[in-house]
Amino acid sequence: MSKRVVVTGIAGFVGSNLGQHLLNRGHSVIGIDDLSAGTRENVDHRVEFHELDIRGPEIYPVIASADAVFHLAGKTSLVDCLKKPLEAASMNVTGTLNVLEAARQGKVGKFIYADTSAEYEGIHDFPTPERNIHPVGVYAASKHGGATFCESYRDLYGMKVTIVRYFNVYGPAQDWRRVIPPVMSSFILRMLRGDRPMIYGTGEKRRDFIYVDDVNDLHLIILEDSRSDGRTFNIGCGINFSVNEVYHLVEGFLKTGLEPLYKEDLPGEAEITLADITAAKKVGYMTTRRKGVGTSLRYSMEPR
Ligand SMILES: NC(=O)c1ccc[n+]([C@@H]2O[C@H](COP(=O)([O-])OP(=O)(O)OC[C@H]3O[C@@H](n4cnc5c(N)ncnc54)[C@H](O)[C@@H]3O)[C@@H](O)[C@H]2O)c1
Repeated sequence: MSKRVVVTGIAGFVGSNLGQHLLNRGHSVIGIDDLSAGTRENVDHRVEFHELDIRGPEIYPVIASADAVFHLAGKTSLVDCLKKPLEAASMNVTGTLNVLEAARQGKVGKFIYADTSAEYEGIHDFPTPERNIHPVGVYAASKHGGATFCESYRDLYGMKVTIVRYFNVYGPAQDWRRVIPPVMSSFILRMLRGDRPMIYGTGEKRRDFIYVDDVNDLHLIILEDSRSDGRTFNIGCGINFSVNEVYHLVEGFLKTGLEPLYKEDLPGEAEITLADITAAKKVGYMTTRRKGVGTSLRYSMEPR
């Protein structure tokens, strides 16, 4: 059955892809974004778009009209969060609380929160299941603050809140303009332009990369299947690659002959991420369609 779905952060990377995924499935999409990091061009023309800050009162009537809310808006640059911790907390904690409160007052049926594998920064148990977390950096701590309010509203008010912990998502519309852009889009764009790709540290950090459509497949399961209500899910591939291996994969496709430029390491990042995706698989999630970086990398190079 078609639902009215609010997506906050619709103009960003995952949100814009989610908007299209929901529309293609026949749902109506209402998007909220203040365009502080995302762009209007990312937003599908079929979306009812509201240029609003998630911390303001104007979001209440917009959210009250929805059957479900996917809350993705927030400050996502790790470097920005380190430089401006109060702003990170304002967007990721207070902002999330305001969206939750709007959903509670509006009696919205489902609330899905975009959490992060950064919650596992201090955990050394691989593949990592959902049960233990240890956020270290400002970004992780601020996302954890938002997640804590999600759990509070679930337990206090019986709201149907689901938390999805994304690992390293990649795909079309990733923001390559950041000071330190996400590795996949940064490698591809720099190498296509004839610039050497930049690697922070030795390139031996390992990440569980997940294609954005796979994340959105799980989002659809959560939206349409009540077995997911109230739960927390990791979303990754359950396979990881080092940054150097990703470079070799990209170079294998593009054949530029450009060698990486190694820069000083970034502080506070986990050495390894690897998702235990048992819980997501039990509700029907499959990574079979686009398995891991090797197969799906080419999709992220295709025009949308
Ligand atoms: N991309 C990943 O690999 C990844 C991994 C883990 C978790 N996440 C989480 O997923 C969500 C989406 O990530 P993304 O990569 O698409 O990020 P993004 O930065 O591309 O998108 C975030 C969007 O939120 C908007 N926004 C920021 N503050 C806002 C505010 N106060 N009011 C309204 N809009 C605001 C921005 O303009 C932007 O369009 C985030 O919550 C992020 O923490 C992403």
